[in-house]
Amino acid sequence: MSTPHAVPADKRFRVLEVTMKRHQYRQDTLIEVLHKAQEVFGYLEDDVLAYVARGLKLPLSRVYGVATFYHLFSLKPKGKHTCVVCLGTACYVKGSQQLLDDIDHALHIKPGETTADGEISLVTARCIGACGIAPAVVYDDEVCGKQSSSMVLAKLQELVKP
Ligand code: FES
Repeated sequence: MSTPHAVPADKRFRVLEVTMKRHQYRQDTLIEVLHKAQEVFGYLEDDVLAYVARGLKLPLSRVYGVATFYHLFSLKPKGKHTCVVCLGTACYVKGSQQLLDDIDHALHIKPGETTADGEISLVTARCIGACGIAPAVVYDDEVCGKQSSSMVLAKLQELVKP
C-alpha cells in the first residue's frame, strides 16, 4: 500500500508514518498515533498534528480537540526554543540522563519546564528514530547526535544569543 502523502526527511515523521501505516490509517487509531507522536517528538507541535490529520484523513480540528482534551498529551512547550533529549534505550545507555542532569545543573530546568527567562523549554522523548547517533538531542527542529554535556550547553547558549 502506498503512503497517502509525502514523508518529510525528518526521521521522526517516518516513525510516525510507519505507525499510521501499521494501523492502516484507521481514524479510530488517532489516540494511539498521537501517543506515538508524543513519544518521538516529546510534545505535539502544530505541524505534527497537521501531519497526523492528513495521514488519517481527519479534520485538523478533531485532532486538536483530542490532543488538548487528554492531559497526557502536551502541546508545544512555551519556551522560545525547545530542547528535546531522547531517553530511549539507545540514548539512555549512552548517557542521556547525564545530559538532563547537567542541563538542570546549569539552567535549573527539569523535563517539562521552561527557563525563567522563557528562552528554553526542556522536553524528553522516547526514541526519536536516530539511535545510530545516540545520544540524540533535538534543538528546535535540528536533530543532533553524539551529544555530550558540553556540546548541549554550548548549543543552548548559542540558541539564546541575542
Ligand atoms: S533511543 Fe534515542 S534515538 Fe532511538
